[in-house]
Amino acid sequence: MKRKFITAMISTAVITFIAVLGFILMLNDLHTKPIPDNVNSDNNISFEISDTESDAVGNSESEVSSAVLTSSSNESSETDTDTDSDTQNDTSDTDMVGSENDETDSDNEDHVVIPYDGVWEHILVNRWNSIPDDYTFEIFTLDNGKQIDQRIYEALQAMFDDARSQGVYPTVTEAYRSHEDQQAMMQSYIDEYIAQGYDEKTAKQMAEDYVAIPGTSEHEIGLALDINPDAEYSTVEDVYGWLADNAYMYGFILRYPEGKESITGINYEPWHYRYVGEEYALEIYESGMCLEEYLDFKQHEFLH
Ligand code: DAL
Ligand code: ZN
Repeated sequence: MKRKFITAMISTAVITFIAVLGFILMLNDLHTKPIPDNVNSDNNISFEISDTESDAVGNSESEVSSAVLTSSSNESSETDTDTDSDTQNDTSDTDMVGSENDETDSDNEDHVVIPYDGVWEHILVNRWNSIPDDYTFEIFTLDNGKQIDQRIYEALQAMFDDARSQGVYPTVTEAYRSHEDQQAMMQSYIDEYIAQGYDEKTAKQMAEDYVAIPGTSEHEIGLALDINPDAEYSTVEDVYGWLADNAYMYGFILRYPEGKESITGINYEPWHYRYVGEEYALEIYESGMCLEEYLDFKQHEFLH
């Protein structure tokens, strides 16, 4: 009798253990969903960032660190070795690309140049406007390891929460990149074009249509995000479409719109969003201007 009782107790314990284990594995699975083919790593930020039960959203001071960009390296205390959804390739790094000031465009006069006035969310960074040598910001690390300027975290969180509540599942596949990361990315593009048979000059020019010249990428200041679908739940059309319609409400703009390539210097990138704050984002969205056009307009508005 006693033996039967013990056997029954053991059986119950084993069944309970299996049930609990199964539940834990199921939960874990929710947090390890696969990612789109063109991106790398554990990019399930869409879940982490909006999961208020976890500490993923960064309630720890240790997740914030300082970055001070310098003219020589734009180094920060953080590193990011990931590839970009801007690219399909990511290989070696050399200093062939050179410093952030080695752009060769001779048509500066045709492009708006707006010196940084200290209003961080309005900074213009492109091939004609390098990142200021002394630009600083605090880095915030997301659960999937991607990093951003901590000042945009709240807006990002709100945007992802709302997207998901509407059945759209975005994920951050690329965010802050160190200067070295940007150099490596540029070099990988150049190498790829050379491998395809282009001469070095042409390869460099082609690469620069997609990758910002190191020292001139918004990724280097943590204000740019590459946002792609969580492939298990959303399509590219869903996510890019939702962002195009809604991101401005949270202060983000589509930074490289179609048809503005000659002004931005970069090809259309439906995944690349830049934080500019709600006021500017709304006006940019409504006007159809790209950031360069809008800042130019604001500059003249201010002067008159
Ligand atoms: N792909 C964007 C332009 C960057 O490299 O910053
Ligand atoms: Zn990007």
